[in-house]
Amino acid sequence: MRPQDIIAKKRDGERLNEAEINAFIDGVTDGSWADYQVAALVMAMFLNELDFEEQSLITRAMLYSGEILEFPEIDRPIADKHSTGGVGDKTSLLVAPMAAACGLAVPMISGRGLGHTGGTLDKLESIPGYTVDLPVEDFKRIVKECGFAMSGQTARIAPADKRIYALRDATATVPTIPLIVASIMSKKLAEGLDALVLDVKTGNGAFMKDLDDARRLAGELVRTGEAFNVRTRALITNMGRPLGRYVGNCCEVFECVKIMRGEADGLMEPTTELSSELASHMLVLGGVASSHDEAREKIERALGSGEVFETFRRNIELQNGDPSICDDPEKLLETRLVEAVVTAPRGGYIVEIDTLAVGNVVNEIGGGRLKAEDGIDHAVGLRTECTIGNEVADGETLAVVFCRDETAAKNAVQKLRAAYRIADDPSEASELIIEVVRGDKP
Ligand code: URA
Repeated sequence: MRPQDIIAKKRDGERLNEAEINAFIDGVTDGSWADYQVAALVMAMFLNELDFEEQSLITRAMLYSGEILEFPEIDRPIADKHSTGGVGDKTSLLVAPMAAACGLAVPMISGRGLGHTGGTLDKLESIPGYTVDLPVEDFKRIVKECGFAMSGQTARIAPADKRIYALRDATATVPTIPLIVASIMSKKLAEGLDALVLDVKTGNGAFMKDLDDARRLAGELVRTGEAFNVRTRALITNMGRPLGRYVGNCCEVFECVKIMRGEADGLMEPTTELSSELASHMLVLGGVASSHDEAREKIERALGSGEVFETFRRNIELQNGDPSICDDPEKLLETRLVEAVVTAPRGGYIVEIDTLAVGNVVNEIGGGRLKAEDGIDHAVGLRTECTIGNEVADGETLAVVFCRDETAAKNAVQKLRAAYRIADDPSEASELIIEVVRGDKP
């Protein structure tokens, strides 16, 4: 089957059959399709879309382009969560030890930050020594020993996605739901899961800004998970403001450690709340809690008793990180940075935060990357001092930004000041969790 014939068929708006989709993914995996042929077909798919059957076929082919993990020695249900990404979205660092402390096994394969959104691997690498490049055998051993492990996508997990995603990124073909579903689900299904919870973010700081698009993506992700016999649920959550108090790699790990130590403040509350909700849905889908209320209770107990924290500490030890950051979280924060204060240009109520702008500022001061191969500065970031709904006085501190030099700080302060909209009256409260999208399976 010649690549150009398959490309022509999709270019002309026809459906691709199983043999054609398999030929495409085989050609991506074994390198027999050139980059320009892969990119051309992806563009035809972007323009002419894929129906559910094509979407499932491409998901399956991408999944089987690599290895599917199996955990025969683990007698716990295997579950994970995935987030479509946001600003200050640090929930993986809490959800994994919460779920593990409550009886699930969580083999979490995560990504790096790209553009304005952060990535779990970058955050974890703020912990001195922490290794995210784990050989599959070590990954499995760590899941068995402490209930969860966090690793990057190895060459053995959905390799076709790795190549296609890089080409989509370079050819402006990322934002199309069937390819997003195939990309996310091929990686997650390769974890050999019984249950999966998806956090689909919506709002200005999200990848899916529009609520209807987020609903469509959530629905397709759940439908695909269930078609592969994985109990799947999606939460559509609010990314119209940064999540929690801190944004930036070290800073976000700091926030999570404070929460696990029982030292959270009010601005960190949404981080705890969303993480607890995501983990609760995992416990229910994984069958270790019979109701949502029971799951919430279990998580609150495990958090309060320090079990979640001890599970996190054990994971750091097993992944070669420095566990002393658990006893002295301040160690995570670099003290030689320029600290610049962002003040309110007027008094009133904060009614809107341009979350995309906040993410872009953290990216620009070095905390994120524009291209997959760029390096990042783990130390930079920001601490918010208030959020939507708060009343502030003229000149009151909105946020403090941590930069490498004065020029970066000046630029960041100017952009952050403009990111906050302050009005005379408060806006209507917006929910953190907007909707829960359930599948047909109980
Ligand atoms: N995240 C992924 O892993 N893949 C996509 O296509 C989009 C977001």
